[in-house]
Amino acid sequence: MASLAGMYDTRDSGVLVVFGITGDLAKLMTLKSLYLLESRGLLKVPVVGVAGDNWTLEHLREHARRSIAAAGITIDDAVFDRFAARLSYVAGDFADPDTYEAVERAMNGAASPTFYLEVPPSLFAMVVQGLHGRGLTAGAKVVIEKPFGHDLQSARELNSTLHEYLDEDQIYRIDHFLGKMSVEDITYLRFANAILEPVWNRKYISSVQITMAEDLDVADRGSFYDPVGALRDVVQNHLLQVLSMVAMEPPAGPGLDIINDRKADVFRAMPDADPAQYVRGQYRGYRDVVGVAPDSTTETYAALRLEIDNWRWSGVPFFLRTGKCLPEKVTEVRLVFQRAPTLHFARHKNRLAPNQLVLRIDPDAGASMILHARKASDQGVREIHLDMDFAQEGGAGPTPYEELLSAALDGDRSNFTRQDSVEQTWRIVQPLLDDPPAVQEYEPGSWGPGAAAALPRHWGGWHQPWL
Ligand code: BG6
Repeated sequence: MASLAGMYDTRDSGVLVVFGITGDLAKLMTLKSLYLLESRGLLKVPVVGVAGDNWTLEHLREHARRSIAAAGITIDDAVFDRFAARLSYVAGDFADPDTYEAVERAMNGAASPTFYLEVPPSLFAMVVQGLHGRGLTAGAKVVIEKPFGHDLQSARELNSTLHEYLDEDQIYRIDHFLGKMSVEDITYLRFANAILEPVWNRKYISSVQITMAEDLDVADRGSFYDPVGALRDVVQNHLLQVLSMVAMEPPAGPGLDIINDRKADVFRAMPDADPAQYVRGQYRGYRDVVGVAPDSTTETYAALRLEIDNWRWSGVPFFLRTGKCLPEKVTEVRLVFQRAPTLHFARHKNRLAPNQLVLRIDPDAGASMILHARKASDQGVREIHLDMDFAQEGGAGPTPYEELLSAALDGDRSNFTRQDSVEQTWRIVQPLLDDPPAVQEYEPGSWGPGAAAALPRHWGGWHQPWL
């Protein structure tokens, strides 16, 4: 373990302590995000890595360099050297109180520590207890990664365990979707445009579709994925968070938790999901994936209908779908408006399709408005798409983990999920976990099982995502 003594004056600054720094998440996300923050002048604290592996500090630095390069980043040596100089490493067993003593020494008296727990949830309590045992949780922030439980009861248990040592406002639960600029854009687009907010309700909108399609399969994550499935993996968290941002009332006031308050209002107004409005699919070949049970009934595709029973949304169905092995990687929100009446003055009096507003989240942020205009050739009406790619306008923003790590270090809780929302979202999907419909096979490369088409049948069917 290298001491930071003399390297930084940490009396006033904080420190970031990453438990599990030798693991996969650090290799894929954390190290490169910290490097990118360094390159933007936003990393200002020492970084203490903690893990069970018997690594030296030099090993960690080399591993960091390799991981950053493997992410396709061209390393600037001066930036990397600054980043590497912030690193120290503590090797130790998380069950051993001596590990926390060594962590305390490595923190070198830094105030306001941020502890980032990149460890399995089963170890959260052990690590927090270890930190608490050394008095290190006072004034600390603790960042944790999903899953936050695997159902409502386990989510409640996890929260009450964490609350034995921490106040809710010390806990930063990462949902990496909330670090996507394109997801944050939803709030800005909605409330910064006076032409949108007045029509953003049940009077003008007939249904909402949220699609999160992934073209990749489960790959080498079979043993992680099989006990989880699509509903737990992305619907309960990412998609319901996106839904709440589409549906929430305007947040008012400077409080950092105000957005979480408005989201919680949405979740509280949502009835429990109905298993009759839920379709589960599994791509052909999934059962051959290493780590997947040969008779697995885990869903790799989920489509469902949800409702929000409040004045803004009552009667507007929210259709959500997600899946692995679908034709494209695309995530979007699609607001489908009420239909216009027949154009009695036009030569062709065909019924018009509804206008739509598409908010694209992945692969790139964008918005598209689908309108109708006169068709020059035969005086009919044609669809026109007003497409806007946000990156072309404002440049690509920081990656989700840069955004969230930086926010956690700054103590900005607005993009982290709160206990009440976590428990409400589990409450909403719990009937689907208790009473799941049979899983239906679908062809890899298709848009999922045919049965999913029934859900939005009376609302114009699923719309082909904007690619
Ligand atoms: C993760 C899920 O939370 O999100 C993965 O566990 C999924 O299964 C991933 O692939 C998708 O994230 P992104 O940022 O690539 O859309």
